[in-house]
Amino acid sequence: MTERTPLIAGNWKMNLDHLQAIALIQKVCWTLNDADFDYNEVEVAVFPPFTDLRSAQTLIDAEKFEVKLGAQDISAHDKGAYTGEISGAMLAKLDVDYVLVGHSERRQYHGEQDDLLNKKVASCFANALTPVICVGETLEELETRGQAAVPVEQTLAALDGHKQLGDFVIAYEPVWAIGTGKVATSDEAEAVANEIREAIRSKHGDIADQIRILYGGSVKAANVAGFLAKDNVDGVLVGGASLESEEFSGICRYKKHIVL
Ligand code: 13P
Repeated sequence: MTERTPLIAGNWKMNLDHLQAIALIQKVCWTLNDADFDYNEVEVAVFPPFTDLRSAQTLIDAEKFEVKLGAQDISAHDKGAYTGEISGAMLAKLDVDYVLVGHSERRQYHGEQDDLLNKKVASCFANALTPVICVGETLEELETRGQAAVPVEQTLAALDGHKQLGDFVIAYEPVWAIGTGKVATSDEAEAVANEIREAIRSKHGDIADQIRILYGGSVKAANVAGFLAKDNVDGVLVGGASLESEEFSGICRYKKHIVL
């Protein structure tokens, strides 16, 4: 059986300035800094806004914090006249590890579609960044097409045609569960994650066993353990609850909540 290190990822969205970002990272890392918590067993990553990345990186370096850094988006272009865009090279220079690609809010409010997202994944691979490819169905798609069809399609579209696949993570986030307090059941998350993994296997082979698949959508300390007890759910992508240090640290310590 393949061991996949769970990833607990906090997507801060458009919240906090760089001073607040420093304070939050410090609080989370201090709270996790005890013998009970092992970053080798549970990987933790935060995804602040672009404007916080430099401060966050400086802090993480200076304090030797073990939390990983992620960006919320990436340009599909390498460089040039693309006002407002941030390239993969710029992110790599800031020691960013992960990049969200195709979050449903980018798809919904910025019209990002599969062909553009496929190029963003290529930009990640070209700069040794790990894309966290976000997929998920809207309520309407859930009602008309079921739960797994859209996330599977979006996953395969993002991975299609690359010369070589680098490391990547899939985040299954049902759009109807984001910021709504409505949460998919752990059985539903497991079933969709399993379908995504099998679709990756049939197109791309056994790398499917190494790829981490996260669940996202109204995850809290109180419900995280149920998801992570599932075979095919290898972590969580947390929105609102990642802005509270106690709550987010509680999510990172999900093992305490798993009753064996
Ligand atoms: P919430 O945890 O606030 O529902 O957000 C989920 C999300 O969109 C993470 O990317």
